[in-house]
Amino acid sequence: MVFIPRLLAAVGFLFGLTLAQQDLLAFQDGISEYKLADTVTAPEIWVSAGDFPAVIRTARDLTLDFGRVVGVNGTLKEFDQLPGSPNGTAPIIIAGAVGHSTLIDKLVDAGKIDVSEIDGKWESYTTALVEHVTSSIPWALVVAGSDKRGTVYGLYDISQRIGVSPWHWWADVPPKTKTGIWVRNARKVQGPPSIKYRGFFINDEAPALTGWAEKNFGLTPSGRPFNSEFYKLVFELCLRLRANYIWPAMWGSAFYVDDEANGRLADEYGVVVGTSHHEPMARSEREQQQEVEGNWDWIDNKEEITEFFEGGVERAKNWETMYTLGMRGSGDAASPTLTADSLVEIISVQQSLLEDILNKNLTDIPQTWVLYKEVGRYYQSGMKVPESVTLLWTDDNVGNLLRTPLANETDRQGGAGVYYHFDYVGSPRNYKWINTIQLVKTWEQMQLAYEKGAREIWIANIGDIKPLEIPTSHFLDMAYDMSNHADPDSTTKWIHQWAAAEFEERIAERTVQILSTYGKLILRRKYELLSRKPFAYSVAYYDEAEAVLAEWTDLLNLAQSTYNSLPQSTRTPFFEMVLHPVLAGKTVVELYIKAELNLWRHRQRRTSTNQLATDVQNLFLEDQAITSRYHSLKNGKWDRMMTQTHIGYDNWQEPAENTIPTLLYHGEDNVPKSGIMGVSVQGSNFSFPGDPVPTLLPMDPYMPSSEQRYLDIFTRNNGSFSYSIASSEPYVTISNSAGTLSTTENISDIRSIIKVDWNAAPAGSTEVGLKVAPSNAPGSWPITFNLPVNKRSVPSGFSGYVESGGVVAIEAEHYNKHEEKNDLYYVVIPHYGRTLSGVKLWPVTADSQSPDTAPKLTYTFHTFTELEKARLLVFLGATLNHDPSRVLRYAFSIDGGAPVIVQPVPTTPMGSEPSGWTDAVIAGGWTSASTIELSNGSHTLDLWILEPGVVVQRLVVDVGGYRQTSLGPPESTHLG
Ligand SMILES: *[C@@H]1O[C@H](CO)[C@@H](O)[C@H](O)[C@H]1NC(C)=O
Ligand SMILES: *[C@@H]1O[C@H](CO)[C@@H](O)[C@H](O)[C@H]1NC(C)=O
Ligand SMILES: *[C@@H]1O[C@H](CO)[C@@H](O)[C@H](O)[C@H]1NC(C)=O
Repeated sequence: MVFIPRLLAAVGFLFGLTLAQQDLLAFQDGISEYKLADTVTAPEIWVSAGDFPAVIRTARDLTLDFGRVVGVNGTLKEFDQLPGSPNGTAPIIIAGAVGHSTLIDKLVDAGKIDVSEIDGKWESYTTALVEHVTSSIPWALVVAGSDKRGTVYGLYDISQRIGVSPWHWWADVPPKTKTGIWVRNARKVQGPPSIKYRGFFINDEAPALTGWAEKNFGLTPSGRPFNSEFYKLVFELCLRLRANYIWPAMWGSAFYVDDEANGRLADEYGVVVGTSHHEPMARSEREQQQEVEGNWDWIDNKEEITEFFEGGVERAKNWETMYTLGMRGSGDAASPTLTADSLVEIISVQQSLLEDILNKNLTDIPQTWVLYKEVGRYYQSGMKVPESVTLLWTDDNVGNLLRTPLANETDRQGGAGVYYHFDYVGSPRNYKWINTIQLVKTWEQMQLAYEKGAREIWIANIGDIKPLEIPTSHFLDMAYDMSNHADPDSTTKWIHQWAAAEFEERIAERTVQILSTYGKLILRRKYELLSRKPFAYSVAYYDEAEAVLAEWTDLLNLAQSTYNSLPQSTRTPFFEMVLHPVLAGKTVVELYIKAELNLWRHRQRRTSTNQLATDVQNLFLEDQAITSRYHSLKNGKWDRMMTQTHIGYDNWQEPAENTIPTLLYHGEDNVPKSGIMGVSVQGSNFSFPGDPVPTLLPMDPYMPSSEQRYLDIFTRNNGSFSYSIASSEPYVTISNSAGTLSTTENISDIRSIIKVDWNAAPAGSTEVGLKVAPSNAPGSWPITFNLPVNKRSVPSGFSGYVESGGVVAIEAEHYNKHEEKNDLYYVVIPHYGRTLSGVKLWPVTADSQSPDTAPKLTYTFHTFTELEKARLLVFLGATLNHDPSRVLRYAFSIDGGAPVIVQPVPTTPMGSEPSGWTDAVIAGGWTSASTIELSNGSHTLDLWILEPGVVVQRLVVDVGGYRQTSLGPPESTHLG
C-alpha cells in the first residue's frame, strides 16, 4: 500500500512524467519554457573527460546535428567534474554512462536523476529534463546511459528527434530544419534492445561498393578500398541505426589488415566486430589463404591453423569482438574432410584460446557458431555445442528461416540468433543489384524468430549497403524494439513512420502504398530470374504478363507523381530509396515482358513483332540511362554504386555484362501465305487463318471483372486491309467490330473485346460464331471462331464465390467465417505475398494443432462442373519447416467431410533444401495441391492452419479449367 504513492512521487513529481519518446522534445513555442536551441543558440553538451570515447565522439556528432537542424553548431565540453556554474547562457545537455561519467554519477548521487530502471541493463538509457542541477544551473537535458552504447543511442535519439536521419549521409536525407527546439518537463526510459547483438554484413561487395569506395577512398597498401575513412561512415550509420554489430566486407578484403586503424576505430566508435560464417576467430578469409602455411584443413594442418586462430584473438583482444567459431572449407564452401567430431575439437581448441588470451570466463565472451548450409547437419547429427556459444541459425539465403530455436534450446546460456539475407550470391540466382525485399515477409519471419527465442544476434547480409537502405532500417528497427512490431499490420505502420521521418508526413501514406506494392511485385519474381524459361508470366492465360506490366506501370506512376510533389531537397533521397528501385525495376520487368511478347508475336507472324524488338532495345538503353542518372546524383557522389550487372542471367552467377534477351524479327520469310490479315485468340500462340482454329475460351456470367475475352486482329505483312466481325447471335457483341489496319499508318493491331448480354442469352451452353471477314486483303479469307457461351445461375440465396472457367479462386483473407478457439485465431497480414495478403495462425507461440483444437476458417463456393478428380490448390508463403519436430501442416475439409491433413513442404535433413525448394523460392511461395471429390453445387471449404509458420495466401478449386501461370487465376466473383 505504501509503495504506490512513493512510486507516484518518484516518477510523477520529482522527474516529470514518463512520456512517449516523441513527446520529450517540442518544436513550437508555447509548449514548454525550456528552450534547447534556436537559430542563434545551440546547446553545450557536457561530457565527462573520462567517459567512453564512443560517448564523447557521439556527443560531438550531436553538436554537428544541431548545426544541421538550427544552423548553429552545439559546443562539446569535456570536464573532469560537474562544473557548479556555466560560463554563458547556452542551454546544457549533460550526457554520460552511469559509472563512467563523473557528471552523471554526481547527478545520480545528488538524487537529480533516477537511473534505477536502466542501471546494469544492456544498452539502455534515460533522458530527462532536470531542474535545479546546481544553484547556478537552473536546468539541463540529461542523457544517462546504462553503458557505452546505451549513452550513444540516447544521444543519437536526440539527433533523430530533432530531424537528422540515420541516412543523412548514406542516402542524402536533408535535416528537418527547425527555428526552435524545446524540452518538456518529462522523462524517457528506453531499452534494453529486443536483440542483444544487431547488425549487418557487408558482402558480395564487388563491383558496386568496391568500385565506389575505391573512387572515394583510394586503395590501401594491400590494394583494397575499405580503409578507416570508409569504415567511419559505416560505424556511424550502424550506431545511428541503433545497431551494434558488423561483419565487415570480406571478398578479397581483410578488415584488420587493410587498414590497421579499422579494428581500433570500431572499438572507439562502440561497434562490435565479428566475421562471417566461414571466417572463424576474427580473421578474414583472405588471411586464411595468405597466412596459413599449408592447407585450410583441420585434419591436415591442426597446429598451423591453431596458431592462426591464436593470432586472430591476440589482435582483437582489446576490442569488443564477437568471435565466430567453428570452421568451413576454403572459400565459403563445405569442407570435404570435416566431421562432427573434428568440429567439436575445433570449437574446444578455439574456446581454450579465448579463455587463455582474454583471461575471462567463457560465459563472458561473445561467441557464435553459424549453422550455415552444411554446418547445420553436424548439429542435427547430435553434435554438442558448448552453452556459451550462440547458435546462429540462418535462412535459406532467400529470406526463409531454416530453423528456429526449439523448445528445449531456448534456455541455453549463449542463446540463439539469426543470419538473414537481403542480398545473396548463389542458387537459384544472385540478387545483388537493387532492393528485392518484401518488408512484410521479413517481418513475418523475424517476428517468428523473435517469439521462438532467437534474441541474441540478428545479422543481415546487406550487400553493397546502399541499395538496401529500407530493408536494413526495417530489420534493425525491429531488432532494436520488437514491441513496435508485435502486430500483423506493424509493417504498414512502420513504413508510414519511416516515410514521415525521412521525407514528410504528407507523402507517408502514399509511400506505404508504393513500398507495399513494390514488395508484392518483386516477391513474384526477382529481376535476375526474369531471363529464365519458361518465362515468369503467362502470355497465354489470364492476360497475366500484360496485367503484371500494368501493375508496374501504375506503381511507377504513383512513385513518380509522389516524387514530383516533393521539394528538390527530398527528391534526391526519395529517388535513391524509393523511386529508383521502382523505375529501374519496372524498366527491367517491361523489357522482359516485351521480349516475351516479341517471341510470341513472331510466332503469330505479326508485323508489330519488330516494334516490340525496338521497344526492348530502347528499354535496354533506358536501363543504362537510369544507371547513369543514379551515378550522377549529388555530383557523382554515388558513381559506380549501380554497376552490378542484372540483365541476361543464364545461370546462378551474374553475367559479365548486361545482355539483351533474344529478339526475333518479322521479315519476308515469316509472312504467311494465308494473307495479310491475322487473328489471334487467348490461350494460343497461333495465328489464323493458317494454323488450326481452336475454340475460344468460354464465357459465363460469373467471369471475374478483370477477365476478358477478345480477338486480336493484326497485320502479317506490310500494307493495309479492312475487316468486319459478325456475331451469329445478337446477344454476343464485339467492340471494334469493323476497322482498317495499315502498317504505314502504324495501326498494326486492334483488340476486339467480346461482350455477352446475359439477360438475352439462352440458358445452358451454346456456341456462338464470330466471323472475321477481311476486305481489300488479297489472299486472306474469312474465318469463324466458335465461342462457348455458358449461361448458368447459382441458386438464389447463395453467398460465396462462383466458379468460372473451371476454377474458383479465393484470397485467403476473404473467408466467410472465422472462428476463435482455445485463445487461438487467425490474423491477416496485409500486403504479404504475391497477390493480396497472408493469413496466419495467431499467436505464433501456439503449439502444434489438430483440426479438433485449431480454430477454423470457412469459405463457401459454388461449382457447375462435375469432375471425378477436382483439385484444391493452396498458395502459401515461402516459409520452410523451421522446426524439425513440427513440420508445417494445414488441414481442409470439403462439405463437412473428414479433415485432410496436408504437409506442403517436404521434410529434409538440416543443411539441404527440401525438394521443390528451387521452384518455391523462384515463385515466392509454395503451392500445394490435393485431389478432392466434388459434385457440382454449393460447397463449404473448412481450413485449419495447424502450425504458426504456415501463411496461406490463396485457395483455388480447380474443376478442370486451371491454367499454369505464375499467380493463378484472378479472384472469382463473389455473390451475396
Ligand atoms: C559545424 O561544424 C562543422 C565542423 O567544424 C562545420 O563544418 C560546419 O560548417 C559547422 N556548422 C555550422 C552550422 O556552423
Ligand atoms: C569556463 O571557462 C573556464 C576558462 O576558460 C574553463 O576553465 C571552464 O571549464 C569553463 N566552464 C564551463 C562550465 O564551461
Ligand atoms: C563462469 O561463469 C559461470 C556463470 O556465471 C559460473 O557458473 C562458472 O563457475 C564460471 N566459471 C569460472 C571458471 O569462473
